[in-house]
Amino acid sequence: MKILVVGSGGREFALGRKIKSFDENRKIFFAPGNAGTEDIGENVDIQADDLEGLLEFAKKNNIDFTVVGPENPLCDGISDLFEENGLKIFGPVKKAAEFENSKSFTKKFLEKYDIKTAKYLESKDFDESYDFANKLLEENGKVVVKRDGLAAGKGVYIVDNADDLKKILQDVLDKDDMVVIEQFLDGFEMSLLCFTDSKTILPLPTAKDHKKIFERETGANTGGMGTYAPNVEAEVFVDRIKNSVLDKILTGLKEENIDFRGLLFIGFMITDDGIYVLEFNARFGDPETQVVLELIDNDLLDIMMKTSEGKLSDVDLKINDNKALCVVVSAGGYPESYDKGDEITISKMDSVVFHAGTKKVDGKIVTNGGRVLNIVNSKKNFDDVIKACYEDIEKVDFKNMYHRTDIGPRVKRVYVRKKDEYDYESKEKKKQIENLLGIDLDKFVIYKRYDLEISDDNLA
Ligand code: AMP
Ligand code: GLY
Repeated sequence: MKILVVGSGGREFALGRKIKSFDENRKIFFAPGNAGTEDIGENVDIQADDLEGLLEFAKKNNIDFTVVGPENPLCDGISDLFEENGLKIFGPVKKAAEFENSKSFTKKFLEKYDIKTAKYLESKDFDESYDFANKLLEENGKVVVKRDGLAAGKGVYIVDNADDLKKILQDVLDKDDMVVIEQFLDGFEMSLLCFTDSKTILPLPTAKDHKKIFERETGANTGGMGTYAPNVEAEVFVDRIKNSVLDKILTGLKEENIDFRGLLFIGFMITDDGIYVLEFNARFGDPETQVVLELIDNDLLDIMMKTSEGKLSDVDLKINDNKALCVVVSAGGYPESYDKGDEITISKMDSVVFHAGTKKVDGKIVTNGGRVLNIVNSKKNFDDVIKACYEDIEKVDFKNMYHRTDIGPRVKRVYVRKKDEYDYESKEKKKQIENLLGIDLDKFVIYKRYDLEISDDNLA
């Protein structure tokens, strides 16, 4: 069987690797791929946004199934084009990919189908958007300004003063002619990847992304600096989400006649005030996919094919009890400007290196993007995967390499009334906290969800 994977990041590496792991005889082509995808299949020199080039390649090479990673080709209608030409493809058609293309489209859908989301305004007018944003800023101390349209996860600004607000609003309106203002939500995030064929919606294990460039979620927004799955802090909300969100999405898709056959990625913010949907994406998350796939024992290709044939209800999802972690190694300077072309050396390690922004030049592997490599590990508990990933990062080297040091569920969260809802506790961290505070945490009775977090400086 011949499979074409469109894209070149760690997500596409993960998708190809998983598809191949079920049957070695599958031949995988990556367009354009990276230095690592060459070890799994064959790279073809066609860019992900060259829809005609991809179609021609698929026809000429009798590709049986195409899997689309990034959003741009989906928003440009690659699935419509392939299906019109009788080719099988995974990824929603253009009309359905509008969830990814336009935040205002998603917001209208969420409001219409009574799915909780942050208060928002879309506007083309500086004064109108400033008044709305400034009011939210005064109410909440922060306000969120978003670019409408595709911005690779980087078009979001969290603003905490009126001067910055004016500057950012002006800047966004100059670039896009439209801005989205949102109420700031304070909570913890969860990424939920769901297969759907508009008749059935199948949520995969939960994941947690780390969106900001620096530790403790500070600094600029990025495409994602690391993930873990399951998202132990948020998993307990999934049952509630099925009723309050997923069922309503299916109703909405049917009523709006949206033929969504693909992967719907829902970003949640879970707050004291309830479960909010932050955004929809019409594709797999990067780097969520790298960890979520570690928890699934099915043949991924079979799920994808059933989804695109509208037979998702036939799939019986098999989930294992692994804990998976992915740490992104980026080029210094990302998400702003960074160098490309620096040589990368990688020594043998326990974790798997998923290539992202890499390419081969004269037999050497060099950097070729902001997020360069993903160090991925999965085992039965988080303490072990965190240790393994961070030991293994030491075995990678290139000029100005950067990574966050705090990927993983690092705080000890204590539930008393619902303690069994919480299935991860870092024994090491707990001991350190107890030593520092001089208390025995097990003797405490706490009646509210409580996060204990102590800075590494204090623990040192
Ligand atoms: P988005 O592209 O809308 O998913 O936003 C990217 C990231 O910005 C999210 O994952 C959050 O970390 C943050 N963010 C977006 N919207 C909000 C909001 N309303 N309140 C707080 N943080 C937000
Ligand atoms: N990691 C977030 C995204 O893929 O949009």
